[in-house]
Amino acid sequence: MMSNFPCFPAPNLPAKTILPNDSVASLRKAAKLSFPAGTWPTFNMNPPHVAIVGATGAVGEEMRRCLEQRDFPVGKLTLLASARSVGKRFPFRGEDLAVQELTHESFAGVDLALFSAGGSISLEFGPSAAAAGAVVIDNSSAFRMDPDVPLVVPEINPQAVKNRPRGIIANPNCTTIISLMALAPLHEAFGLEAVIASSYQAVSGSGAQGILELEEQVKAITAGLPFTPKVYPRQIAFNVIPQVDAFLDNGYTKEEMKMLHEGRKILGLPTLKVSCTCVRVPVYRSHSVSITARFARPVDADAARAAYAGKPGIKVVDDPATRLFPVPLDTTGQDTCLVGRIRRNIVLENALDLWVVGDQVRKGAALNAVQIAEIL
Ligand SMILES: NC(=O)c1ccc[n+]([C@@H]2O[C@H](COP(=O)([O-])OP(=O)(O)OC[C@H]3O[C@@H](n4cnc5c(N)ncnc54)[C@H](OP(=O)(O)O)[C@@H]3O)[C@@H](O)[C@H]2O)c1
Repeated sequence: MMSNFPCFPAPNLPAKTILPNDSVASLRKAAKLSFPAGTWPTFNMNPPHVAIVGATGAVGEEMRRCLEQRDFPVGKLTLLASARSVGKRFPFRGEDLAVQELTHESFAGVDLALFSAGGSISLEFGPSAAAAGAVVIDNSSAFRMDPDVPLVVPEINPQAVKNRPRGIIANPNCTTIISLMALAPLHEAFGLEAVIASSYQAVSGSGAQGILELEEQVKAITAGLPFTPKVYPRQIAFNVIPQVDAFLDNGYTKEEMKMLHEGRKILGLPTLKVSCTCVRVPVYRSHSVSITARFARPVDADAARAAYAGKPGIKVVDDPATRLFPVPLDTTGQDTCLVGRIRRNIVLENALDLWVVGDQVRKGAALNAVQIAEIL
């Protein structure tokens, strides 16, 4: 289904935008890991047995692609999903692998378990996988705020992977990852203090069901037929919905509060202030975030653009004179997040406005998980 996305790479952008310095070696160096790339001390030097939990889902399928595309050394790959998917088959490096039903016994001999089947599955089966000896990298929100579980974006806090007492590492929320890819280099240069953001989140962020809902509504509306929203609280086709996830007592949604709590943990900034409004938009794939960020030190647009030089995983696409700015179609299927519309904010002191876009299935989930595995 993912390969059917309308995805037209923007002119002037290379088809694949992995930066030269976005390499396993540079991330390992940043993590201060002394062993060279290509060795696997965690896995006793053997190519690991990898399991993907949720292998039939939007993120699980992308994980399989990432492992293949990045030449991750896989000794054996086990695909796990619900009983509904038993019998489905997926290609991996020339082999045709059958999906197996997830059980507590699925993890015998597994070295690395990539979870993307939702929080309840992670809570139930993640500890079983860790107890069986696997390193668990979990895409759900189940363990993210557990003080004994590192929350890792390899370009930002790679060193955190080393301290994992529960054998579990959490992948941050997708909107948080994409926002922090733009904010971390600015924090390093100017000292981040506060963030006000609005997200424009693609329907694939709700998994395969979100894509189906948009497709079905577009078809129904253009054919003049009735329909009932199932995944989203309101019509998503030709509309935008200012609700992502459940509302909390303070009026924010859970998704909006993730940016605050996870941002603080990843950046190591317990006093960071964040206010976010998350909005679902009728885009197939790639989240966009409009950010106003206030810093401790003076900042301007040129200094901000310069702060991104040489930073892995983020590229400046910002030339108003030629109408060059990133849009979701530019990052769909890509590894690199793109940042543009960088300007000094005219309301607040020491503040910038910017616009960052990233593929939330890839950098916001599957790619980030595989990058974590690469620096273990
Ligand atoms: N989509 C994104 O952009 C994104 C980004 C970041 C994080 N995430 C997180 O990643 C996780 C997966 O999201 P997704 O978008 O890939 O969802 P999805 O497309 O709906 O896929 C869900 C996967 O979970 C499996 N699953 C469901 N119930 C199961 C059960 N009882 N036992 C075993 N497997 C079960 C499904 O298998 P069946 O096909 O057999 O039902 C499927 O493989 C979620 O925690 C989500 O929050 C998603």
